[in-house]
Amino acid sequence: METSTETSITLDFLGELRRTHMCGDLRAADAGKTVVLMGWAHKRRDHGGVIFIDLRDRDGITQAVFHEDVGPAVHKRAEEVRPEYVIAVEGVVTPRGANAINPNLATGEIEVVASKIWILNESRTPPFPMEDEVDVAEDVRLKYRYVDLRRPRMQRNVILRSKIAYATRELLNSQGFLEIETPFMTRSTPEGARDYLVPSRVQPGTFYALPQSPQIFKQLLMVAGYEKYFQIVRCFRDEDLRADRQPEFTQIDLEMSFPQQERIYEVIEPLVQRIAEVAGYKIETPFPRITYADAMRHYGIDKPDRRIPPMHPVEDIFPELASAGLPVVAIHIPAVGSASRKERDEIKAYGQERGLRVYDDSKRLERDYPEQMAKVRERCGAAEDALLILAAWAGEPKGQRPEETVYQACGQVRLYCAQKYKDRHKLLDPKNLQFLWVVDFPMFEWDQEDNRWMAAHHPFTSVHDDDLEKLTADPARCRAKSYDVVLNGVELGSGSIRIHRRDVQTKVFAALGFSTEEAHRRFGFLLEGLEYGAPPHGGIALGLDRLVMILAGETSIRDVIPFPKTARGTDLMCEAPSTVPERSLKELGITFTRPVK
Ligand code: AMO
Repeated sequence: METSTETSITLDFLGELRRTHMCGDLRAADAGKTVVLMGWAHKRRDHGGVIFIDLRDRDGITQAVFHEDVGPAVHKRAEEVRPEYVIAVEGVVTPRGANAINPNLATGEIEVVASKIWILNESRTPPFPMEDEVDVAEDVRLKYRYVDLRRPRMQRNVILRSKIAYATRELLNSQGFLEIETPFMTRSTPEGARDYLVPSRVQPGTFYALPQSPQIFKQLLMVAGYEKYFQIVRCFRDEDLRADRQPEFTQIDLEMSFPQQERIYEVIEPLVQRIAEVAGYKIETPFPRITYADAMRHYGIDKPDRRIPPMHPVEDIFPELASAGLPVVAIHIPAVGSASRKERDEIKAYGQERGLRVYDDSKRLERDYPEQMAKVRERCGAAEDALLILAAWAGEPKGQRPEETVYQACGQVRLYCAQKYKDRHKLLDPKNLQFLWVVDFPMFEWDQEDNRWMAAHHPFTSVHDDDLEKLTADPARCRAKSYDVVLNGVELGSGSIRIHRRDVQTKVFAALGFSTEEAHRRFGFLLEGLEYGAPPHGGIALGLDRLVMILAGETSIRDVIPFPKTARGTDLMCEAPSTVPERSLKELGITFTRPVK
């Protein structure tokens, strides 16, 4: 596109002109009123001397009509209007004739018979039409984001997001939570990703880290006696991006003093219920709860999608299929009907790639093992038209919790099958919102690369009261006081009861393999803070982007973030990240050891 710097028509000034209504406001009852509307020219049609302009603003569309008798000057001005020109129109609200009523438009019973028009700005031909129905490549949408954000779907999403943020503030304020800001230029907070670093000019060679979360600060606010904190806060994580991850994203973050886990659920459930209500959903509370161990056993994942039925271990029914004491799992997907040989082969191959032996032919199994299969069907509650398959581990036990490795692979097969047949059943209906709490997570996860235990949540999480001695004796089985809230297979939020005693925190750092010096270097200020009257405390953070994404019926968080980044972390509109002038690098004392592309 060429760049034009000069306007091709004379533009009008806004001057003292005031808009009287929004474009979604006017109804038949307003007939006779003289109004001034302002917005964008959505469409213009010329009908033999009569010009119609659909005028659009954030709230809707109103039809303005310019009859011939409006006079040649105004008429000519209306003729100059092109799509997306910014205009103001003055006129009289007039009922439309019975056959001109547009039932698809909130303002469809009226039109504004225009007497004046102002062209406040022109517009180049937009890179894509405003209609949602027109599919546009995402990179073009992101480059011209300001145009994309003008389209109805994005406006709906951004407005929903704003309403959700408002409802959150309102509800949490009413419960005595204080909104307190925490710094963006800080030290590293360990949430499992890499930090974004900001070099200091005045202290060359030193860096701030952008927070991966306000975790340590919110804990210190509890030490400081603020009791109930919340923040709708941006977090920054340098990690591989996916449809539900962005390098900068927003959390509804909160923390309380003296809570049990139950107390946190009592805050979150009504909050999520209120937020869902804002989006037009009615959801039931309390949410079901499931332990991490049961989530693995029945869903093979720590974020179960409850729209799809659970899996069931059946090694007691089919001991001959079990190997090395590992589980045998029945997976069933309802209402599939018949699966072709080819489809069953694909499922089998998918399972084999994940280390499983898959028994995909339930007819044959039922012929050879009628009694056992009857029991399996009963346990699963699988109807005749369900797809029913059995899976067992094919090789040597693997991992620190080997049964989990099996369940995880089976869980992937379950999701694969549900996706494969999603058109035959209604299981994956995005409007069916299935929330649940996953509780009693393991304290540690084994890091294959570094060959050491890592905190499964973060290192400030309390050990389960019954598992204190397992901290060092059996870390693989040591449970944490942590919980996730999950919606339709997406981890919506995560939290824990924290360690509030320095001696316990020191022990956990040791179990995680931090030397005393390292623990001190990285978290000395927290350890010290715990020595000055730290109350028992706990909290949670919900991913706002993910919540809005699901409630808006979107499948990518990019569609609910006004200015998101691509999978490569690029902002296509402002072309960030970018190189900086040599002088800035010099001031910061930065030189590159690798050639810069
Ligand atoms: P956690 O790291 O689990 O916990 O994050 C909480 C929630 O934030 C969302 N989230 C993300 N959303 C979009 N893009 C990302 N890259 C991304 N990473 C996380 C998820 C997730 O459930 N400080 C703890 C919370 C606590 O213990 O109170 C924390 O940040 O929805």
